[in-house]
Amino acid sequence: MKIISVLSQKGGSGKSTISINIARCLQLKGYNVVLIDTDPQASAREWNALASDEFFPVYGCDKGISEKDIKQLEKLADFVVIDGAPRIEKSMADAIRLSNFILIPLKPSQFDIWACKDSIELVQTRMQIDERLKAGLVLSQTNKQTNLTKDVVQFIDENFDIPLLSQSTGLRVSYAEVLSDGRTVFEGQSKEAKEEITQITDEILIMLGVPNEQA
Ligand SMILES: Nc1ncnc2c1ncn2[C@@H]1O[C@H](COP(=O)(O)OP(=O)(O)OP(=O)(O)O)[C@@H](O)[C@H]1O
Ligand SMILES: [Mg+2]
Repeated sequence: MKIISVLSQKGGSGKSTISINIARCLQLKGYNVVLIDTDPQASAREWNALASDEFFPVYGCDKGISEKDIKQLEKLADFVVIDGAPRIEKSMADAIRLSNFILIPLKPSQFDIWACKDSIELVQTRMQIDERLKAGLVLSQTNKQTNLTKDVVQFIDENFDIPLLSQSTGLRVSYAEVLSDGRTVFEGQSKEAKEEITQITDEILIMLGVPNEQA
């Protein structure tokens, strides 16, 4: 079982959107998936309640996950995806300690990078102790019409050790639309959004050294 945490202290960076969609992508690749919602705002649980048929189990864990939870999940899941809360607190530290992969979404603005610097540094510190821990930054809600993204990519490259995934999510209304009625991009109309989430998931699987599809 592999644990993928989607974390950042910065609110609204795209954690819930990306965690729900990559969880669905992994499921469509044939893996058993459990989504853990560690945010007391309960966005992932609310999304799950709206779904006409549950895609995969979504468990709320406002206090964060423990080793004991992980042992129980091992019987159920190939992948656990953790949707993080927008705060630095114990649940974030636990997720960092227990994860195999940490994905940090950030919007392509300097303010957003500054606002999630502490999360990035916490993950970098953990990577120095745990050599098996992998991590990636992913740009979220990018807008091709601005040049901002280029500057942000350069800043990240010069200032952080965590690699930036080559795929980002574009600013697309379809992301909000599908989640608002309990679906994912894979049940929606936007080919681009499906492609973005698939590419992001594929990059994570490569970094984890896990087969792209369940045999
Ligand atoms: N790629 C995108 N294109 C357009 N809108 C997006 C995209 N990603 C996320 N959003 C929207 O941005 C808002 C914040 O996204 P989301 O809730 O996923 O962020 P979050 O990091 O989980 O927020 P929080 O920190 O409050 O938990 C939501 O309204 C969501 O629909
Ligand atoms: Mg959220």
